[in-house]
Amino acid sequence: MSTEKTIIEKHQGQSLITEQVTGNTKKMYIESFGCQMNMNDSEIVAAILTKEGYNTTQIMEEADLVLVNTCSIREKAEQTVRKRLEKYNAIKRINPGMKVGVLGCMAERLKAKFLEEEKIVDLVVGPDAYRDLPNLLKEISEGRDAVNVILSTEETYGDVSPVRLNSNGVSAFVSITRGCDNMCTFCVVPFTRGRERSRDPESILKEIQDLHERNFKEVTLLGQNVDSYLWYGGGLKKNFKNASDIAKATAVGFAQLLDIVALKYPTMRFRFSTSNPQDLNLDVLHTMAKHKNICKHIHLPIQSGNTDMLKRMNRAHTREEYLTLIDNVHAIIPDCAISQDIIVGFCGETEEEHKDTLSLMEYVKYDFGFMFAYSERPGTLAAKKMPDDVPNDIKKRRLNEIIQLQLKHSAYRTKAFIGQTVEVLIEGTSKKSDAHWKGRNSQNCVIVFPKDNEKLGDTVHVLIEDCTSATLIGVKKQ
Ligand code: SAH
Ligand code: F3S
Repeated sequence: MSTEKTIIEKHQGQSLITEQVTGNTKKMYIESFGCQMNMNDSEIVAAILTKEGYNTTQIMEEADLVLVNTCSIREKAEQTVRKRLEKYNAIKRINPGMKVGVLGCMAERLKAKFLEEEKIVDLVVGPDAYRDLPNLLKEISEGRDAVNVILSTEETYGDVSPVRLNSNGVSAFVSITRGCDNMCTFCVVPFTRGRERSRDPESILKEIQDLHERNFKEVTLLGQNVDSYLWYGGGLKKNFKNASDIAKATAVGFAQLLDIVALKYPTMRFRFSTSNPQDLNLDVLHTMAKHKNICKHIHLPIQSGNTDMLKRMNRAHTREEYLTLIDNVHAIIPDCAISQDIIVGFCGETEEEHKDTLSLMEYVKYDFGFMFAYSERPGTLAAKKMPDDVPNDIKKRRLNEIIQLQLKHSAYRTKAFIGQTVEVLIEGTSKKSDAHWKGRNSQNCVIVFPKDNEKLGDTVHVLIEDCTSATLIGVKKQ
């Protein structure tokens, strides 16, 4: 079986590369919603199905199998998927042989109910059951329903080498943990993705080695909570206490993992996401400061700036502890960008509590952020025990206030780069102009500059001359 790289699509001026296997005759169309982890999981699914004779296609009408990797984080995310299923329905009329599978968090949440609710769906597969896809496909080819939503305490897909989908050939995701043990009261993830497990560093290194050999230049290490990464031979973290002394002595934590990858691959750069404030420790900050090739950006969700609210959310830190962490980040890595996730209108949020979120934002002045109105999720502790009592119009107004403040801070942070020369990894052609490259600096800020004789994947120095609210504009320094 030989793999060849094929340029299969020009999308917004970008050449997107997807790996194809010659001789594979069946076609799969995979669509992903939600977080980066879902994007990476779809690449794992593609790898599993490539072995079953499938190649990816960008044309749904010709697909034998359409898979949608779903997100449950907010109600709206689920509605988006339901809308897509309507589209699949229309296509199935032209292509009646097409099978439809639902993957990911919605599959896990709704289980077999999905088959009843959405007649178009043939197959329901939760995030830990992708290895079972070949069997499940056999089931549906023989006319049976196929559902596997068993969550695992071990599965990390460590030995699956993902087939990169819609890749720019420069940056890739590598998952290092799966699941989450934090049980934030608003969040459905622990229910849909199961218990937290860390992946063997050997298999992480093997995947990065492979990317390195294929000339990838940037890896983002992924997990719901990367800073709690801990490898001591496998299994759940709670068992670490009982692990053998050897396992404890040779355990690898997140700071060590960062150190290992940064040292081993000096020509690649590394990002990671997401950091939970309760687990981001000084070792990680010092490791970031030590290595030029660990990008100076931390995604550090706060959710709320008020300690009582953080308690109701079951976030394991106070406002003050978070601010101390921010001070430490600035002291140890002065040029570090920090981004946030914030939820407004969570159960019982008062105006005072909302103001605390605004004042915390004023203190931190985040580089960018993702802001949401609280959306109650079935099965969570909040849904069971806490009334979703902030009226929608108030949620909307508060959301608007934090978005406006974030825009101001983003502009402030972006402007600060004007006049500086920054190192940029070229990741593609600018969306707006074929004559310009786009890339990002270490702080994750997007930079566009005129093309000369550089190529995709080069690292160049760019003098920043101007900016829009979120993009820097510059010229290459010779
Ligand atoms: N640790 C995770 C967080 C996943 S959810 C990660 O890797 O990113 C991403 C963000 O969605 C959360 O930080 C939170 O701000 C938001 N979110 C989660 N549940 C939500 C809900 N029920 N309503 C609104 N926003 C929510
Ligand atoms: Fe969700 Fe909290 Fe984990 S936001 S993913 S339960 S850290």
